[in-house]
Amino acid sequence: MTNSNDDQAQVQREQDLTDKVVASFANTPDDRLREILQAATRHLHAFVREVRLTEQEWEAGIEYLTAVGHITDDKRQEFILLSDTFGVSMQTITINNRARGNATEATVFGPFFVQDSPEIDNGGDISGAATGMPCYVEGTVRGTDGQPVPGARIEAWEADDDGLYDVQYDDGRVGGRAHLFSDERGEYRFWAVQPTPYPIPYDGPVGQMLAASERTPMRASHLHFMVTADGKRRLVTHIFVRGDSQLETDSVFGVKDSLVLDFDLQPAGTPTPDGRDLHGGAWSRVRFDVVLADDAG
Ligand code: BEZ
Ligand code: FE
Repeated sequence: MTNSNDDQAQVQREQDLTDKVVASFANTPDDRLREILQAATRHLHAFVREVRLTEQEWEAGIEYLTAVGHITDDKRQEFILLSDTFGVSMQTITINNRARGNATEATVFGPFFVQDSPEIDNGGDISGAATGMPCYVEGTVRGTDGQPVPGARIEAWEADDDGLYDVQYDDGRVGGRAHLFSDERGEYRFWAVQPTPYPIPYDGPVGQMLAASERTPMRASHLHFMVTADGKRRLVTHIFVRGDSQLETDSVFGVKDSLVLDFDLQPAGTPTPDGRDLHGGAWSRVRFDVVLADDAG
């Protein structure tokens, strides 16, 4: 037998195995589950064949995933972090949120959202225990038809200027999160703190992967939003700070151009829109107009 015949026989053996595994799922009664299992088989086999995975590498991969499982508990979800840092979370969001007219784009949810955040009045302050330069956030919630959406529930959450969310504090203080409702004209406004860059948790297997590939764990500075209203599709997104140093290298690929906004610095002593006394300190302001797609849209 020539080498080339050997090669062809090897390719055939590999393909036969893939085909056999794909066929083993053929009787899966649930059509969608069958599609997913068969496609996963094809892609996993193609990956193993493309990189010519060695047995030691296979073992290292198993050990890696085992470590991801071991560090995961009800507070730390390393599998989601792995999905985030491979861009799989963002790809899933991208295919499920095809641009709907002029609707605001979505981005990753992240692990730091908490149900039952404090409610504030329109114009209130989400900062609580979170420290940072005050930032005035305002905008309007509209539908894709341009009509204002009154009563939209706006959840906002963010890290403090040390890069920590309140759930990372060890004393239970609440800060950098709240919800409010748009007014009868669809308008909203609140005080927050100026977002700053912070790292995703990098003391586990995902951090090792980032270090081994010389990638940064840093996220671009952002403020999270979740906006819900009757008859509208739920929007989960963030706004990013134009000029931020991490926009190009955001560790979870969450940045979209349309979500990068001007956070205008207001020098110390600049009067505030609502007359709030900031004791002569500097502050910033940003406008974020939200457009919600229709639920069935
Ligand atoms: C965040 O924005 O809070 C986040 C998103 C994905 C992974 C880790 C953190
Ligand atoms: Fe975040």
